Amino acid sequence: MKLEIIILAAGQGTRMRSSVPKVLHNIAGRSMLKHVVETANTLKPDSIHIVYGHGGEQVLQEDLGDNVNYVEQKERLGTGHAVAQVSPYLSDESLVLVLYGDVPLVKTETLAFLINSSDQGLGLLTVHLENPSGYGRIIRDIHGSIESIVEDKDASVDQKSITEVNTGILSLNADTLKRYLKELKNDNAQGEYYLTDIVSMAVADNLIVSSCHPGDEYEVAGVNSPEQLATVERHYQALQASELLARGVTIKDPRRFDLRGEVTSGMDIEIDINVILEGSIKIGDRVRIGPGCIIRNSTIANDVTIDAYSVIENAIIGDGVVVGPFARLRPGSRLGDHAKVGNFVEIKNSEIGSGSKVNHLSYIGDTSMGSGVNIGAGTITANYDGINKHKTEIKDNASVGSNCVMVAPVKVGTGATLGAGSILRKDAPEGKLTLSSIKQITVEGWKRPVKKAD
Ligand code: UD1
Ligand code: CA
Repeated sequence: MKLEIIILAAGQGTRMRSSVPKVLHNIAGRSMLKHVVETANTLKPDSIHIVYGHGGEQVLQEDLGDNVNYVEQKERLGTGHAVAQVSPYLSDESLVLVLYGDVPLVKTETLAFLINSSDQGLGLLTVHLENPSGYGRIIRDIHGSIESIVEDKDASVDQKSITEVNTGILSLNADTLKRYLKELKNDNAQGEYYLTDIVSMAVADNLIVSSCHPGDEYEVAGVNSPEQLATVERHYQALQASELLARGVTIKDPRRFDLRGEVTSGMDIEIDINVILEGSIKIGDRVRIGPGCIIRNSTIANDVTIDAYSVIENAIIGDGVVVGPFARLRPGSRLGDHAKVGNFVEIKNSEIGSGSKVNHLSYIGDTSMGSGVNIGAGTITANYDGINKHKTEIKDNASVGSNCVMVAPVKVGTGATLGAGSILRKDAPEGKLTLSSIKQITVEGWKRPVKKAD
């Protein structure tokens, strides 16, 4: 059977107090809408229809893949009205699943179950809540069959005590749905066209109305405020941390770990507190990541130590490398096996050969560095002349003294040595000592000034 998924995303989200439409707020680095679209895609639907409204342009700019049909809801007249905007696009024989752009954590298994149970009629995803206020209540007859949904604002005192609520997520045949949508009225407390009114229509039609439940409450938790966004974020992070722990990764404190993307992990990885991993990350075996590190879109080989408070982006790190503490690897940093990059060192778009060391207070940019090189403290490559960037080449086994400036484009030959404080404007030949600092002199007869009497 064809499956079409409708995602309602036209809400204004006033309580977010934000210029960004609610569904574009992030959970783990991806918008809530993107989470829902990704989950929807796991069900292999024939199409996904997103109903957008407030902040439409921003929603349209979000990259959600090709499978998506955007449908504008010009006026916000209720969930039934929102779904009705999609009617013209639905083929009659499809099964329709309705999801919400602000309910980001619903799981594929739950939805697959709902779809399977609803192929006979109307399937509702319901949940029992300790505090059901605000939600539509599920009304059942004495045999336990579902009769209708009553919105909180329309419910009697008795009905308000019902704890089984409508999550909003439902599934039924498109042909039937379209027929019911045409019959919706807005004669209720909110003057809205309620999608939930299709339930009593289905009952009147003798359609089977079934219900199923999510694995937990968080799956159907909607986000209306920054506080709820934070709660859902922490829950999602806890799930991700559990998954990594189950893979054998040591995480010192799962409550202080954030993954905003995907990570592939080897064995015996240890992650200290307050680490943030973003984008696509690969980590090999026996890697230790110290506290406070931020790592984005990078590949880390085996036996690597990343010490505290290092920030790493788009870098490739070889076996046995030691980075940090307080190191910054910017995009295009490639560290060969057993290289060392120490504290207050910044590397950008550079290759550091195997076993080479840049241990203290340096900037290395647009540089190709061979193996076995030692860079003294405070040394920098001056790669920028104010207009263009230039390259520095440092050959194998060169030794660059402390506080040198290599003014690019420039080359340091194999085994060359640079004296401390040199400013290199011309190439340094291989195997020789090159110095540019002035000869040390001592001024005879010089005296310190003395304080004058008043
Ligand atoms: C809705 C359900 C209620 C359920 C609750 C679960 C109806 C009538 N009620 O109530 O039974 O318990 O969700 O959270 O369906 N939206 C649009 N266009 C509109 C109106 C809403 O796109 O014109 C979207 C909103 O952005 C939101 C979702 O639909 O994502 C739900 O709308 P909301 O107004 O929050 O419905 P509730 O009153 O909470
Ligand atoms: Ca709501």
